[in-house]
Amino acid sequence: MADLSINLAGIKSPNPFWVASGPPSNTAYQAHRAFDAGWGGVVWKTIGDPIVNVSSRYSAMNVGGIRMVGFNNIELISDRSPETNFREIAEVKKRWPNHAVIASLMVDTRERWHEFVRRSADSGADGIELNFGCPHGMCERGMGSAVGQQPAVTEKIVSWVMEVATIPVIVKLTPNITDVTYAARAAKKAGGNAISLINTINSITQVNLDNLVPEPYVAGLSSHGGYCGPAVKPIALNMVQSCAADPDVQLPISGIGGIANWRDAAEFIALGSTSVQVCTAIMHYGFRIVEDMTEGLNDYLDSKGFTNIAQLRGLAAPTLKKWETLDLRYKRVARINYDKCIGCNLCYIACEDGAHQCIDLIDPNGYSLGPGRVPGKPIPKVREDDCVGCNLCSLVCPVDDCITMTPIETGEPKMSWSDYQAKMARGEMQPIPAHP
Ligand SMILES: Cc1cc2nc3c(=O)[nH]c(=O)nc-3n(C[C@H](O)[C@H](O)[C@H](O)COP(=O)(O)O)c2cc1C
Repeated sequence: MADLSINLAGIKSPNPFWVASGPPSNTAYQAHRAFDAGWGGVVWKTIGDPIVNVSSRYSAMNVGGIRMVGFNNIELISDRSPETNFREIAEVKKRWPNHAVIASLMVDTRERWHEFVRRSADSGADGIELNFGCPHGMCERGMGSAVGQQPAVTEKIVSWVMEVATIPVIVKLTPNITDVTYAARAAKKAGGNAISLINTINSITQVNLDNLVPEPYVAGLSSHGGYCGPAVKPIALNMVQSCAADPDVQLPISGIGGIANWRDAAEFIALGSTSVQVCTAIMHYGFRIVEDMTEGLNDYLDSKGFTNIAQLRGLAAPTLKKWETLDLRYKRVARINYDKCIGCNLCYIACEDGAHQCIDLIDPNGYSLGPGRVPGKPIPKVREDDCVGCNLCSLVCPVDDCITMTPIETGEPKMSWSDYQAKMARGEMQPIPAHP
């Protein structure tokens, strides 16, 4: 079995799986349960001057019968006193000396930052995470995403923190910004030891059509909230890769956003994350999901011949290039496995109405009948010469491995957009014709 232990900027944990700051990391009771279940670290629910929460707080986007594909909240930071939180961190650390306990902090003035950073270290926490991400409530008070959205303010507060920090400092970034690398660079410039991303995305998940108020509502009014869960994973992956690839950032990364299983975790690690944090999936399924995550990641690393998790880290990041470097002559076409085709013809409709009109409906005579196919009913057939390889048919097909996107050997040399433009400028080739 591969070694899953990690060291993120000096914070060590037996595996890369950390409970993200949020409801599952609110109390010592939960931290003990999390570590018992197998989590490697806990980032405590953000500690600051106590707040008062509203009722209700959460809403969700369900898609096609799947619940909580996206999750939204208008909850603030911890409503418990800093004394209670720091005392419980000390207790947890005593019982779990080899696991990572990170104090998430959010306060306002330089003096308060100094005080809370010192109290975190005194509690025995392994590190500090600065919450510059909450996009609701706290930002209206000049904290959370109000800090993370302004690189200059991020830089100022990180440097305040670094004036007194004696344990590693992770700067948690907001995705509610045009280019997250600006905030990451500010964190680096001010001496932050690592970054974590993403916090939640500003959102309104739905409007209740009975009372015409967005969910969740409080006495007939609502407020914009933070979006997370599986729906945000693609945004988070993109932001993690952007920071990992930026030569001006080059900080260890804790990846967060929509992680629910070992595959999600492996993808974040392959794009440059050292640890991964999970909130919504724990709220949905409980702490024990980490058992499958650990086993799955271990099996995957073994199957790849990796002996430790660091060997996976960042391997996919360099394959993401500027569009103009991609090979314009590379071609894939859709191939249908008629033994699996159920005759729903969704591929035909999608291609005909929504894409490039490269699938015909043909007489099924001469083709074997797949499961559920109606004898005599026309079946889809791809015109490979016209297929642009867009993937849409394979994406809408409800049967796994029924439509395969197959690379075609064109025999032509590679040509990127930059090569193409250069050749055109030199008059060495005619324009590539558009799809008819
Ligand atoms: C109800 C709720 C409360 C949260 N509270 C905090 C918080 O106090 N501090 C913080 O840094 N992030 C907080 N988060 C954000 C999570 O730590 C995480 O960044 C985000 O939810 C994305 O991860 P996920 O898709 O696994 O949930 C909260 C998220 C949720 C859903």
